[in-house]
Formats: sequence, C-alpha cells, structure tokens
Amino acid sequence: MKFTHIDDALKKKKGTFNFRGWIKRKRELGDKIFIVLRDATNDLQCVVEKPSAKAGKSAEQLWKTAVTATIESSIYISGKLAKDKRAPNGYELKVSMLEIVELSDDFPIRRDLSESFILDVRHLWLRSAKMTNALKVRDTLFGSLREFMKKENVWEVQAPMFVTGAVEGGSTLFEVPYFGKTAYLTQSSQFYLETFIQSLEKVYTLAPSFRAEKSRTRRHVTEFWHAEGEFAWMNFEEVMDFEERMIKYMIKKIIDKNSRELKFLGRNPQDLKPTLTKKWPRFTYTEILEEAKKKFPKLKYGTDLGEKEEREITKDYKIPIIVTHYPSELKPFYHRSDPKNPKVLLCNDILAPEGYGEIVGSGERCWSKKEIFSRMKAQNIDPEPYRWYVDVRKYGGVQHSGFGMGMERLLTWVCKLPHIKDAIPYPRTMNRLYP
Ligand code: 4AD
Ligand code: MG
Repeated sequence: MKFTHIDDALKKKKGTFNFRGWIKRKRELGDKIFIVLRDATNDLQCVVEKPSAKAGKSAEQLWKTAVTATIESSIYISGKLAKDKRAPNGYELKVSMLEIVELSDDFPIRRDLSESFILDVRHLWLRSAKMTNALKVRDTLFGSLREFMKKENVWEVQAPMFVTGAVEGGSTLFEVPYFGKTAYLTQSSQFYLETFIQSLEKVYTLAPSFRAEKSRTRRHVTEFWHAEGEFAWMNFEEVMDFEERMIKYMIKKIIDKNSRELKFLGRNPQDLKPTLTKKWPRFTYTEILEEAKKKFPKLKYGTDLGEKEEREITKDYKIPIIVTHYPSELKPFYHRSDPKNPKVLLCNDILAPEGYGEIVGSGERCWSKKEIFSRMKAQNIDPEPYRWYVDVRKYGGVQHSGFGMGMERLLTWVCKLPHIKDAIPYPRTMNRLYP
C-alpha cells in the first residue's frame, strides 16, 4: 500500500488516499463515528458511516473496527477526501477501510490534568499538539543556527561534557564521581572553544550545558542546549553585531517556515517582524539601572539584574535590547575590562522583550596574560586549575570575543511559551529527573 501524509493530501485537495497514523480523538454521533487521525504533518477528520441493513460484510466489518478502535491506537485508514466546512481544517475523509495496527490501552492523558502528572507522562505528552508544534519550531531553530554559521564560515566543533572546573562560578557545578576523582558536568563550552581559535579562528558548538540551579523560575532548567561561539580577531562591537544578525536570521527562518505552529502556540508571527527590521537598542548597565530604579527604588549600582528585574525592564519592549558594560564584580573573570573605564567590562547580555529577559551572555575576552591574571586576582581565583586556559594567551594570544545563547530561552520567547519547560522535550529541574 502507498501511504500519503495528511499535509500532502490536503495540498491535492481531493482524491482517494491511504494514511497511517494514530487516533487523536474519537466520537460516536448516532450513525456516524468521527475519528481524528494524527500523523507527523497534521490532523484529519475521518468519518465512518453505520452500514444499512442491506450493506455487505466489509461495510459491517469497517463499522465494527471503528467501534473497537481506541484513542491512540495506531491505524491504517483509507478513503475519499472531500471538502467539508464543518471539519477543523475544511476537509474530511469518507472512510472505506480501517485497520488497527496496534490497539491502544486506555490512554492516561485526558483533559484537565495537573502539571506534575503531565511531566510524569512526558513520554506520552510529547504527542500533544502543544509539544509537537513547539518541537517543529525547535527543529527550525537548531537548523537555522547551523545554516547561519555555515554562511558566516564558522567551524562547528565539539567540547567535552566531563570537565574539571567552573566557567560560571562554583555554586552551580554538578559533581560526578570519576574513577576516584571528581569531575563536573560542563556549565559552558566557552573555555574549550577559546582553544580552537588559534587554528580555526571562528568556531561554534551546539551542546548541552548543565547548571545545578536551585532557582525555580520560568526560565531555568538544569540541562539546557547552549549555542556558543568564539571568534579570533573580533572585538566587542563586532560580536554584538554578529549576535544580532544571527538571531534575526533564525527568527526570519521561523517566520517563513513555522507560521502555522507559531499561531497555534499563541504567537502572532507579525509581532516578530519589528525584531527583524529594527536595530536593537543598546544601553549600558548604568543606563538600564536608572530605568529599573523607577520600578525597584532599592536597586543600587552593582546589583545584578535577575529574573524579576529583567522581566520588568523588558515587559514593554517589542524587540530585544542589548545591555552592555556591566560592573566588573558582576561577571566572571574571563570578561575583559574596558580600557577606557576599568570599573566596567566589555560584555553584553541580550534581553528578549515582553518580559522574557536574558537569552545571550557575551563579550570580549581577556586575551593577554596580564589581563587574565589581573582579573583572576581581583576575583580571588586560583589560576592553577586554569593553566591550560591561560596558555591560550601565552602562546599567540589574540583579541577575541564570543557568546553563549540558551536555545530554550530563545524558543520560549519566540513561541511566546509560558515556561521554559515547554521548550524542551525532557525538562530537567531540581525536582524532575524522570522520565
Ligand atoms: O550567561 P551564561 O551563564 O554565560 C555563559 O555560560 C558563557 N560562558 C557563555 C559564553 O559566552 N560562551 O549563559 C549563557 C546563556 C544565558 O544567556 C541563557 O540564555 C542560557 O545560557 N542559560 C540557561 N538557559 C536555561 N537554563 C539555565 N539554567 C541557564 N543558564 C544559562
Ligand atoms: Mg548570563
């Protein structure tokens, strides 16, 4: 039998087709059984009619099968496609053949289930329209990042996930027993990426990063997908331009490919257009702090901007903003001090609008021996575990800059999702490790 996907059949508008998929919904209405078929491309309403007394054996068998079939059973189903105004996507299949491939047990997911139950049956919840649509946009997001990097001649490389030290401070390191030693799960591939630049100049990686985050916010998971880049001969201004270009490219791809999914998820694609056409405003930390003080009068110069502050700051923006020049104490030692004002750093965060907040952390790196040692000293960091990292400066150091972008953070904003958990198939948090 030759099978067609629902979307391909809908493009042809009429004809007789064989489909294979799953029963998303089923409803008996007098002398009709309505089956909503789901495949990877779409849903389709199918109708089986109760046979008259004179109808033959095969019509009776078809009706019997339709009666037996349960929600989420896998099926083969054939029939004639026709326009029907009452059907959700305007088409209906008049069923002539139905075969159950595997009869489903009583499917545990129904309406009005608690958040924690949904997470317990995540392996089944993945089939929900909410997840499926988000996963399709996620696919475009990952693909478009790679496309963009290829276009910009950036090499894709890989770094280890078992590491010996922190990039973003010790408090969020996951310890792993490692043959009598202690290893950690990587918080960021940045330091390893920096070791590639003397040969490949421009590199990126797309890999998980791990944070033992105790914070329960709508934007933290303990395992997230991290897009990171490092670029030799690139200064601070240039890396910010690169990031803006990159995210614009990715969002354009999503608008082009995933309008249907975005609309389903509650994001009007039109609302993302200004992000593509406008230049994103840039503010220094000092400038943005003045603005934040209007809502948080207790804020003082030097306080970090957390989830709450960023939510308020970005709530009324329609496009991302870039915040630069954070005070030196607020960011890790690898950030380069501004030669014009050593109290601040040549670093930037990109904050997504509508309250979503930080999606990118970035900046120019300390790229000389002298600078890196002085920043380590200022932060009381023992250089010994970072010897190899310092070597990048010792043997042919060069000005370079880089960034890290949380793919789930970006997806959460682009799809207007209420929580980062909706942007990753198997979210990991402090209380969630199963399935
Ligand atoms: O700002 P972060 O901690 O910066 C770094 O890790 C740098 N070493 C990256 C680099 O320059 N190569 O993390 C970068 C981004 C954040 O802006 C955020 O989007 C995401 O990673 N991120 C998280 N996403 C989800 N859950 C978490 N717990 C995250 N922590 C960071
Ligand atoms: Mg950050």
